[in-house]
Amino acid sequence: MYFVHPQIKFNIGNIKKVVFSFIKSSDPAALKKLEGMFPGKEIVFTDMGRSAFKLIIESFNLQNSKMLVPAYICDVFYPIFKQYHISPVFLDADKETFNISGNELKEKITPETKSILVSHTYGLPVNIGKIREIAGSQVLVIEDCAHSFGNKTGNAGDASFFSLYKSFPTSRGGMAILPKNMKAKDLPKTCFNPRDFLSLLNSFSIFAYIFKQFGSGIAKTIPRKEKLTQPSLLNRVSMNLFLNLLDDFEKVLPQRIKLALFFQSELKKLGFEVQDSQNNVFTYLSALVPENTDRDGLVKKLRKHNIFCTRIWHTPIVFNPEVQKEYSLNLAGFPNTIDISKRVINFPLQNFYTEKDIRKMALALTKSINAL
Ligand SMILES: Cc1ncc(COP(=O)(O)O)c(C=O)c1O
Repeated sequence: MYFVHPQIKFNIGNIKKVVFSFIKSSDPAALKKLEGMFPGKEIVFTDMGRSAFKLIIESFNLQNSKMLVPAYICDVFYPIFKQYHISPVFLDADKETFNISGNELKEKITPETKSILVSHTYGLPVNIGKIREIAGSQVLVIEDCAHSFGNKTGNAGDASFFSLYKSFPTSRGGMAILPKNMKAKDLPKTCFNPRDFLSLLNSFSIFAYIFKQFGSGIAKTIPRKEKLTQPSLLNRVSMNLFLNLLDDFEKVLPQRIKLALFFQSELKKLGFEVQDSQNNVFTYLSALVPENTDRDGLVKKLRKHNIFCTRIWHTPIVFNPEVQKEYSLNLAGFPNTIDISKRVINFPLQNFYTEKDIRKMALALTKSINAL
């Protein structure tokens, strides 16, 4: 069974780490290591990545301002823009990198632009130096590192934020990276709740399989704390899970990248278009299906082979009808975003996979395409 979201391989060492996350505090050396990844910065652990983004908005007083934003990004940002009265100006994506392009930035930046949100989509870093060259020193650069843990992103911008549960099986978690001298406001504490426990179970493939087959309705009925407007601190258990797994993550990252490149070469043979690989950490192994391929049909066929792909983002923020109305958007201005969202597919890639797993998936993919 192959899943996209981070999985915990079932073995004694890992089970110990999970159990210790509930009963012991995390190793201070892990925290030190993390601090070393962001020299001269302040780290704030938050319940979700979006909370970290809110903290940045509040810390830099970005309420009531204009922000340049990728059109190809998830719509969790929409309620945040509304809450803080931010006027987003959307930039179309580049077809090769799935990130924003410098040309779009040049065209859409104005003297009123106060900040720019740059997302390192799927794990491929955007060159922040180039963004700064175009935007100038007055514009605040916020790095969205939700997909890019592990490749040193998050240091070059004025502020940045991470979404920990996309790279680690931590149930939830975000992290804001702020300048050292910036005192962020105090956030309320949170506890590891029943929904977090279900998410943790979902990190084990057997439960993930059961939830995928039978449980999609259950999760919706459990209230989601992150929908509250107030950003909060990360609970102790998720933080411990993150810090206890950090060392392993770093050790296996080179292998993950190697496998991703191999997977990409298999995908290219089948006519898929893939993202560049310069320092890509492949938090999502994403590709565009060949033109005129029924992407959604392919996702369904792959499920029959127990390969559970996702489609991040088949509905990016600019597809949301409320967003279109609120900001008078004309979708014709985002041709690449439209094309990518119709053709994108994310394949499973776990840190413990082997070449054999990739070959198995490539074979199932070939069969599924032929059966469309
Ligand atoms: C690029 C990107 N930025 C930010 C977020 C928000 O992160 P979180 O779900 O931790 O709030 C997500 C995911 O939802 C995302 O994919």
